[in-house]
Order: sequence, then structure tokens, then C-alpha cells
Amino acid sequence: MDKFVVNGGKRLRGRITVSGAKNAAVAILPAVLLAESPCIIENVPDISDVHGILKALSALGAKVTPLSRTTFEIDPTEVKSFVVNKEMAQGMRASSYFLGALLGRMRRAKVAPPGGCAIGLRPIDQHIKGFEALGAKVSIESGMVVAKAEKLGGGTVYLDMVSVGATVNIMIAAARARGMTVIENAAREPHIVDLANFLNSMGADIMGAGTNVIKIRGVEHLKGTTYSIIPDQIEAGTYMVAAAATRGDVIISNVIPKHLESITAKLKEAGARIEEGDEFVRVTMDKRPVKCNVKTMPHPGFPTDMQPQFATLLALADGTSIVTESVWESRFRYVEQLTFMGADIKVDGKSAIITGVKNLKAAPVKADDLRAGAAMIIAGLVAEGETEISDIEYIDRGYEQVVEKLTAVGADIKRVSDEDFGYSLKAN
Ligand code: UD1
Repeated sequence: MDKFVVNGGKRLRGRITVSGAKNAAVAILPAVLLAESPCIIENVPDISDVHGILKALSALGAKVTPLSRTTFEIDPTEVKSFVVNKEMAQGMRASSYFLGALLGRMRRAKVAPPGGCAIGLRPIDQHIKGFEALGAKVSIESGMVVAKAEKLGGGTVYLDMVSVGATVNIMIAAARARGMTVIENAAREPHIVDLANFLNSMGADIMGAGTNVIKIRGVEHLKGTTYSIIPDQIEAGTYMVAAAATRGDVIISNVIPKHLESITAKLKEAGARIEEGDEFVRVTMDKRPVKCNVKTMPHPGFPTDMQPQFATLLALADGTSIVTESVWESRFRYVEQLTFMGADIKVDGKSAIITGVKNLKAAPVKADDLRAGAAMIIAGLVAEGETEISDIEYIDRGYEQVVEKLTAVGADIKRVSDEDFGYSLKAN
């Protein structure tokens, strides 16, 4: 197992280019299965979650041809299998999107239950409710989720809570159903709009993506298309916070500033200066952050996937801040790691009470999940001394070339394999 070793205390300066959005890619790539001719997908992030989806597509019988590191031609025409087993799903949360995609294409799907980051219960009852509204029967057989539909028609689904995954899955399945599907209380995240744009570019008829009512008029045929994935809002936000926390000056390019509004607003409240261009944001900070309160909400609220990173910034603020998590029930596991570094944070139910300290101290810490791992990197970049971060396979799931990108703006961060430490973690 590799680790990151970060020598903190350096101000980040320069330019970071953001990659394609993970959460859009993991929805769009399975949805390629709906096409009746090859698709070319550009700006695909080079991260392990995406490699997992591409491998699963190949195992299903799709022909996946890399045209560059971030562009793939995917020909789904020969896909005959409708089974995504445990090995193919590889613990990915997004494996559930194969349910919608295979149901839409073949009218049946058998998929290992989704895994992903351990940030709370991750049920799929709303996905299932959506499939059932379209006329599918869903059951659990030998630990696999099985969905079958003799006829896949339209239907109206009211989501009990705003769910990104259910909105994605229902949109994918409904794109080739017969009839009109309406998703009420739909998620409005930028990647929902990106998925709708992708499906529409294949010939789908989807209206209202980006609002809380999405209407999908099913079509019989979808054709291949060439499509470029939007920039990653959360990767951009992570580097924005890293710039502010290190009191740096960083231009973060290849972004859609509108997608970053909630993050920008909170960073300004915490004392950062932010300049916005058409495709970049510049974050400058030259003083200690100011306390502020944050509550995570579905888009356009403050994203839960930025909560650990922002809390790390507030751990350095002048004053006491309250961070409230309203999307996931247990997303404060990283707090323990931050306290090893000298942070003063108390968790009380859904809130963390953060009393800012002047600096953090280097310590051996671990990435509890993907965004917790991003928080550890930010803490390591700030702390004086050498911070060792273990369990970084979580970080590799969602951050492309994180070492290269941070090194280019002056960070001292290395990837080190455990052999380089002179012992093997595997023996433990
Ligand atoms: C997606 C993102 C994840 C992000 C989350 C919220 C992907 C691949 N992952 O996850 O990074 O943190 O959105 O922005 O896009 N819920 C149910 N039943 C369901 C579905 C969800 O109870 O059937 C609950 C969940 O437990 C959670 C809340 O709804 O409390 C939101 O979950 P959801 O938006 O579905 O998250 P994901 O799609 O898994």
C-alpha cells in the first residue's frame, strides 16, 4: 500500500487545471450502454473509480478503446451480458448505475450491491422505487440486485429525499422506456445536467434537468455521440480550499465558476479573495481564516463532498465555527485524524464544533474515505513537519494526478510505497 508524505508549511502558488468530473463520468460511462453505435467520451478523469467502470464495461462485452489518457471510444453494440458481479463492481458506489443502464438496454439487470465510501448507510430504496414505477420487478437473489421488466414504460416518481444516485439511475433507465417519466424532488447537481445533456446528445428527450422536476420522454433508439464531461466541481473546490488554507495564490482553471458558487461564497466569508473568469477562479488568502458556519445541502447548497476539506480550513480559523452535515449521517470520522494533528473539534450528532487553532502539527494519519483523504492532504500541506497519510487508495478513487498537480504549485508531497518505509503493511 502506498502513502503520501507531505512536508507542510509551503504557500501554494501557480495554476492547477481541473480534470473531468468523477460523479458525471461514473454516470455517463454506464449510460453508454444505451447507445446503438459507438460513443467517444472526452475529458474522462484518470482515476481508479473510472477505471473500474471501464473494466466493468469491457467485462460486459463493450469494446473500450483509449484514444488518449482522457478520451475513450466505447462500442457497446456487442454487449450481451446483463450481469455485473461483485468482482466487476469492485466496491464502487456507482456500480448501481449499471442497474439503470442494463434495464434500459436489455430490460433486465443483475448487479452486485453498491459499495463506495463508508460515509453512512447507502441504501438504494429510491432507485428501486423508480425502477418499479417504470414497471420493473426488483428483487435480491443470492446477494445480487435483480431487476426485470417485460415492458419498461413511463411513470411518475416522487423521491422521498433528494438523491443524486436515484435521479441518475431513473433518468438512465427511462431514456429508452416507452412513455413519459417524471421525477419529482429530483437532484439538481451539475452532473445531473451533464448526464441529461449527454443522453440528449444521443437522441434522448429529457427536459428540466437542473430543476427539481425532470421529464423524460422515452425514445426507442439512442445513437452514439461524442461528448466532453464537465470539470469536477469538488476537485476544483478542494484546490480552492488548499490555496486558502496555505495562504496561497492559486489560479484553478478549466472550471465552471457557476458550479462553484456555494464554495466561493463560504471561502469569501472565511476571508479569501476570489476572482472569477470565464473558465477559472483565482483564490488568494494572506491572513488567518475567519470563523464561519456551514451546513451541507443538496445542490445548490454547500456540497457534502466539500465538508471535510472546509472543516480543515475552519480548524485553522480565528474563532469557533459550526459545521452541520445534513446529507450523510456519519461523515465526521476524519475528525479524529485531524485531532491527532492538533485540531480542536467536537462532534455532537450532525454538527462539529470547531475551535480554530493557530497551526496544525504533522502526524501519521489515514484517509477514512475519499473526501476525508482530501482533508488530510490539506491538513498536511498546512502543518509544519512531515505528515504521512495512509489508505490513500481512497484518494486515488477521485483525484487525478494529485501529487503532480500540487507539486506544480509548490507543495512538497510524494507518493511512497511501504517498501520505501522498510516494512510491509500487508504483514499487519
Ligand atoms: C452522490 C455522490 C456522492 C455525494 C452524494 C450527495 C456519486 C457517484 N456520488 O452519492 O459523492 O456525497 O451524491 O451529494 O455521484 N438515500 C436513501 N435512499 C436511496 C438513495 C439515497 O435513503 O435510495 C439517502 C442516502 O442515505 C443519503 C442521501 O439520500 O443520506 C443522499 O444520497 P444520494 O444523493 O443518493 O448519494 P449518492 O448518489 O450515493
